[in-house]
Amino acid sequence: MEAISYLNSNRELFLNQLFEFLKIPSISNESEYDKETKRCSEWISNHLKNIGMPNVAIYPTAGHPIVYAENLEAGKDKPTVLIYGHYDVQPVDPLELWISKPFEPEVRNGKIYARGSSDDKGQVFMHIKAVESYLKSGNKLPVNLKFLIEGEEEAGSNHLDDFILNHKDLLACDSVLISDTEWFADGVPSLCYSLRGLAYIEITITGPNRDLHSGTFGGAVDNPIMVLSKMIASLRDDYGRITITGFYNDVLNLEQDERDNFNKLPFNYREWCNDLEVNEGYGELGYSTLERTWARPSLDINGIYGGYIGDGAKTVLPSKATAKISMRLVPNQDPEDIANKIKDHLFRILPPTVKLEFKNLHGGNPVIVQRDGKAIQSAMNALYKTYKKEAVFMREGGSIPIVDTFSQALNAPVVLMGFGLPSDNIHSPNESFAVDNFYGGIETSIYYLEELSK
Ligand code: BES
Ligand code: MN
Ligand code: MN
Repeated sequence: MEAISYLNSNRELFLNQLFEFLKIPSISNESEYDKETKRCSEWISNHLKNIGMPNVAIYPTAGHPIVYAENLEAGKDKPTVLIYGHYDVQPVDPLELWISKPFEPEVRNGKIYARGSSDDKGQVFMHIKAVESYLKSGNKLPVNLKFLIEGEEEAGSNHLDDFILNHKDLLACDSVLISDTEWFADGVPSLCYSLRGLAYIEITITGPNRDLHSGTFGGAVDNPIMVLSKMIASLRDDYGRITITGFYNDVLNLEQDERDNFNKLPFNYREWCNDLEVNEGYGELGYSTLERTWARPSLDINGIYGGYIGDGAKTVLPSKATAKISMRLVPNQDPEDIANKIKDHLFRILPPTVKLEFKNLHGGNPVIVQRDGKAIQSAMNALYKTYKKEAVFMREGGSIPIVDTFSQALNAPVVLMGFGLPSDNIHSPNESFAVDNFYGGIETSIYYLEELSK
């Protein structure tokens, strides 16, 4: 039997198994879920054994475990592909906005609704089912294959870097395949060739050593929330430029041909605004929306808190205020360097009435991957076989920090062939993954392995 026939006769079973995977609340960022995250690593490693992967191992880390599996039966004259993905998911809040519960997967209107359905369990599972389709239909895999599935991507992949650097031989490969990105639009198969990087910091402003009565002290002691607000508001100017000294020093300028290619993509600014229910977009003057999100850096406040936030009024002059700030970076910006630059900047503008505590939470390098060579060509061919149309090349604004480590440590090209859709609501309530993309992804993965072996 052919691998494709096996897929076609097992569609429902595959979907039900994905549901089992999605039911495990593997939220890597919330320690209450550590047991579940661990259970998820065990579930996926058992599953890899059951589909016939001969070598499966769980590598514990100081954080969440790394799952590794390999099948090298194709032999020395065939290439080796490493497939990376993550089994951890984002937190689910605000829970009340979910139509069905985040860990009780359900199909509605052709979409699988559950936390992690698109990011990234559904996409990891496509490749596992593609491998199963070969192995359980009496075929060998056409290439040597290694799975590396981590549980800390959403928390910054804190232990994966070291793992990769310490296991270069184990992970040696000719190319890396990652499905953790999105298509340009529904019906537009896409290959991503660039991701933004990230610098994530947290700052706390402390004024008086305790909360004060705003009548007894108000007007004579500075207010940390107001200081913080003013400081963060000054981080960008009226033209959407980030004001941190030296912030743009290493930004690689967009080439005209790349801008031309962006312009050819079917992007409708009005529809995009309407979908978000905003009157207008926002951003750096002189750049289009796609350029702003794909190829220009950005700075956002992710959260801000301090003082009294309960019901009604409490007359308090708070002691502290905190903000979480993320900066998306583009080649050749360096997360450490950018974190230092914002740190210097903040201390420079700090008024003498308060103190500043600065934390560098995590970072990731921006990447541009190859757009030519055997691996990417195989991806184009595989997508063509499944969808009967040419894939588009695109960049994306999100980050997968480990991509840069892969290309450097393993010296192998990385292919970013994702199957998410922009409407998947990743990281939001009602995350979904299109059923068609789940099956199309399995089919494409089957073809991809075959193409790679040619
Ligand atoms: N799969 C996403 C990255 C992504 C999202 C790529 C959309 C392309 C389009 C990944 O799981 C993710 O969320 N990454 C984080 C990285 C961070 C936690 C270090 C991100 O981009 O915020
Ligand atoms: Mn992801
Ligand atoms: Mn994510």
